[in-house]
Amino acid sequence: MTISEIKNRFGIIGNSPLLEHALNVARQVAATDLTVLVTGESGSGKEVFAQIVHQQSARKHGAFIAVNCGAIPEGTIDSELFGHEKGSFTGAHEARKGYFEVCNGGTIFLDEVAELPLLTQVRLLRVLETGEFIKVGSSKVQKTDVRVVAATNVNIPDAIARGKFREDLYYRLNTVPLHVPSLRERKEDIHLLFRKFASDFAEKYRMPSLMLQPEAQQILTDYRWPGNVRQLKM
Ligand SMILES: Nc1ncnc2c1ncn2[C@@H]1O[C@H](COP(=O)(O)OP(=O)(O)O)[C@@H](O)[C@H]1O
Ligand SMILES: [Mg+2]
Repeated sequence: MTISEIKNRFGIIGNSPLLEHALNVARQVAATDLTVLVTGESGSGKEVFAQIVHQQSARKHGAFIAVNCGAIPEGTIDSELFGHEKGSFTGAHEARKGYFEVCNGGTIFLDEVAELPLLTQVRLLRVLETGEFIKVGSSKVQKTDVRVVAATNVNIPDAIARGKFREDLYYRLNTVPLHVPSLRERKEDIHLLFRKFASDFAEKYRMPSLMLQPEAQQILTDYRWPGNVRQLKM
């Protein structure tokens, strides 16, 4: 697919050089099986880029599982990702498969990867390096074939300095860095996005589309947009 076909297919609006660069990286890396680390502020489109990488890859007919690492309690994250054996902890009445087993042949999107506990980081590094994992409470090594696309909006080198993130895992994840620009880095796209969202909204509610006076356009352009595209869409 060309960049403009990808934009159409995934509803990506914008023509700024940084956005086009990110789309190019996503397209080129998709065909490989490399791990990708997507960085960018909240709401900038990281998950959309992860979907592009999956859909443009040879794994597109496999599963795409998105896991928000920051939303899973520390006590259950290993079991969610790697599964557990029956009786491995209080409440584990049945054995359970984890995402890495279920997603064999597909892509796992690990959103907010910097939130993973250090011990889970060790397990993740192992599965990335060897394709091997062990269910919680088991001693049997299992194999899986999963591509990982991880995302973060925190500065991982800082997290490494604070002892919160393993440096070896960072290098392994960051094989291909993909930076999704914030709206401040692509101000020229703000008005385009606004027009698209205003016309979608107008169509949905059968109302005339909002038009902006030049002063109002300038205010939107100068605004910081801490929540990026998600915030503009709301
Ligand atoms: N360039 C873009 N054009 C149009 N919509 C976009 C663009 N980037 C992101 N979006 C939309 O913005 C919202 C937030 O994107 P998401 O990928 O969830 O951000 P993040 O994961 O970085 O927080 C989604 O509804 C997504 O479809
Ligand atoms: Mg997100």
